Formats: sequence, structure tokens, C-alpha cells
Amino acid sequence: MPEATNQIKAALESQSYAVSLAGDLVSVKILITQKRFDLALCAFSGKSAEESDVLIWLAENKVRPIIAVAEIRPDATTAHFSIADQVLAIPFTKDELISAIEVAWVFRDLTDQSASLEHEYCRVNIDDFVSGKTIQFDIFIQLSEQKYVKIARAGDELSLDRIRSYKSKEVAHLYLRKDDFRKYVSFNVRLASAVGGKATIEARKRISVCRHTAELVLDGLYLDELDPTAFAEGKIFIESTVSLVSEDRELYGLLESIREHSRPLYFHAMAVSLYSVMVARRLEWTSTQNLFKIALGGLLHDIGEKELDPRIAEHDLAKITSDERKILETHCTRGLAILTEIRSISDDVLQIVVHHHENGTGSGYPSRLRSPQIHPLARVVGVVDRFCKLMYTGEVGSGYSLKAAIEELMSGEGGIEPDSDPNGCIAILGLMRLFRIPPPEHFVELHQRTMANSPNHQRATDPK
Ligand SMILES: [Fe+2]
Ligand SMILES: [Fe+2]
Repeated sequence: MPEATNQIKAALESQSYAVSLAGDLVSVKILITQKRFDLALCAFSGKSAEESDVLIWLAENKVRPIIAVAEIRPDATTAHFSIADQVLAIPFTKDELISAIEVAWVFRDLTDQSASLEHEYCRVNIDDFVSGKTIQFDIFIQLSEQKYVKIARAGDELSLDRIRSYKSKEVAHLYLRKDDFRKYVSFNVRLASAVGGKATIEARKRISVCRHTAELVLDGLYLDELDPTAFAEGKIFIESTVSLVSEDRELYGLLESIREHSRPLYFHAMAVSLYSVMVARRLEWTSTQNLFKIALGGLLHDIGEKELDPRIAEHDLAKITSDERKILETHCTRGLAILTEIRSISDDVLQIVVHHHENGTGSGYPSRLRSPQIHPLARVVGVVDRFCKLMYTGEVGSGYSLKAAIEELMSGEGGIEPDSDPNGCIAILGLMRLFRIPPPEHFVELHQRTMANSPNHQRATDPK
């Protein structure tokens, strides 16, 4: 209903509301990462299944209040409308529209869902839930904010009919305990690999499974010390990046090749991409273009490792031989060679990939570069890369404590040297802000100074 949408936009703008339009779910996700919205209006023409997806996604991601605008016909499916805070039936007057917005806004606090128990359980959209014949974990549904009830035990059979019966009762999510959720993610990574190899399955379905797998991996990367809002914003941005990547055949092939090569490498790529975006946002680098480059650079930074034996990359660095280390260090230039062949990869992303192990002091690899020669986005990805290696060694969830990881980055072997590595300091400042750790005063001053200088330098420390 583009004409009606434009009329609504004009009516709201005449009342001094700022309005942004999004035509599909991907555009909605991208818009939400760019601005904070006071309210979402979802128009229903009844002609596209994606309209309901938008409504469900907004509700799941707590973008509230939501007003559904629709023609209510006797035969219309209205089940999803219950998710909205208000339903505005077409036709309506301008006054009715404004009044609906004001009522939704006044009552917004009542719809703000803060679930204190949520961090003990991880949820899976019931439509996406995938299982073998016998389920491997206890499964719960949420009755209220504080109450979860077990509906199936590990070892039970959970038939499709049973899942359908929950859906008919408007159950949108199944919940797993946090530890089981990690096993579920591993199960899904294996499943996605199996599906990816079968040409008989429709390409669309294959992409949907791979996106779902990315979302699950991202959920498993939450750390208790994180600001939940920063995590949610970062996650949405990476999901949007994976969606865009999935639409480009060559980029999609690259992401698939990482996942097929090794499960830890895929986890690591997601972790570095997510944390790099969250750190960049804490540094107030707000340009969507740069955030997208950093997200893509994070996903692809170790693409060169797909040409290496996974056992070398997964080995403890302290225990590998010098020959193995030399082989491992080729992954940056191998990555550059792989990506140079891809038309849609920008020069900035190439530099992130080839420079992510350079450290500003001249002791990094492959080119032993000093600070001004290293792309600032590459330095953020490089510091986050080390952070993720420390926090998530091999499998998600094991490794250093947050405090120990930050200390190691600051003063461990190859630690950040403020005089010779200003971009490294700024990257750590972003990490500290992300975890609400008070940063050293001179790091803050350094950041302010470089921000003040940045517009005059294409390669300035702040690429805002
Ligand atoms: Fe690397
Ligand atoms: Fe890495």
C-alpha cells in the first residue's frame, strides 16, 4: 500500500513527526541500527507474508510501541495483530491516527518487557526449531516473566504435531537452558553444513537455515558484563550484514566456506564481527558504511585460514613449531589473494584482512607496519581479534575472565604501547566503554584529540 503509506507519512510530518519508511524486513533491520525510534507503524495489505514477519521481528526485538494499520476484513487472518499494542482499522482520519499514536506512547511503559530470568534461558523461534527425531535437551516454554515450564525432556520424541499444537496456542518461542543452547547451536552448525551440500533443497531455504545459524551463534556470544542494549544493537547489525552477504552469491560462498572449513573458525568470525561493531559504536563511529565494512572485515578477516590445516590454527600458539607459525602467518596474504578476486569487496575491507595482525609497533605480520600505515578499522578488528581469542578459546564460553583479557591486551606479550600504537589504545578504549570499565585518562584524551583532527585526514584515527 505505497500510496496509503505516503499519505500517513505526509500526515505525520505535517504534525512535526520525523518519519522513516522501510519496505521490507531487511530495510527495517538496517533502519533500527541507524536511529532510535519512538514508535513503529506496520501497514498490512494482506498481500505479503513478510508483513507479519516485520511485526513479529519488531516485537521480538522490543521495538515498541507498535501500531498495526490494516483493513479488517471478515476473512482476514488477524492472529499476529495481537502482538501489536494497537490496531488501527482502515479507513481512519488523521485525528484518529494521531490519537492512536498518543495513546500508544502514553502506555508504552506497560509494554516494556524486562525479563530478569531471560539470561538463564535462551529462546528459539518455534518456527525455526530444528531437532532430530529424539530431542537432546530439556525444552521449556515461558508462562510469565518469572516462570518457565518444561514441556519435553532430553530423550523424548517431540513430534511436529506437538510443535504445531503449541503454535496453535500462540506460543512463539521454545526455551533451552543456556548450556544446552550451546549444544543446540553446534547441532545447527552441523545441520547447516549438511543442508548446504544438497542441491535438491531450494536455495531460499538454504539461505534461511544459514541465517538462522548465524543468529544462534550470535546469541551464544553474550557475556554477562555486556550492556544488553549494546549487544542487541550489535547483533541486529550483524544479522543485517549476514542477510546482505547472503544475497550476494560470491560473498555468500565465502561465508559458507568458512563455516564448512571449521566450526571454531565460524564462531570466531561471528565473534570478531559482532565485537568490532560494538566497539566501533562505543567510539561513536556512526557511519553505516564504515560499520558495514568493519562487520564484513570481521566476518572475513581469517578467510585465508581456510587454505590451512585447521589443526594449525586451533593449536595453542605457544605450542606450535616455528615452521607451523610461519604457515599460520600466511593467512593474511592468502586472505588478501582470495578477496582480491571478489568484485564487491572494498579496498577498506581488503586492508582489514591483510593488516589485522599488524600492531603499530612494527612487530606484527605480514609486513611489520608501524602505526600510521595501518588502517584504523584494521586496528579495531585486530585488537578485537585478540580479545575474542582470549575470551573464547576454541568453543564459545571458555577462556579468560574479562578482567584478565583486558589486562593481557594492555600489558601482556605484544601489549598495546600508547606512544607507538595510538589506534590500538583507541580500540581498547572502545572495549572498555563497551564493558563499562573506567579507561585510563590519556586514552580518552587521545581519542578526543584524534576525533577533533579526523575530518582533515582520510586515514585519520577516527573514520566517523
Ligand atoms: Fe588472523
Ligand atoms: Fe582471527
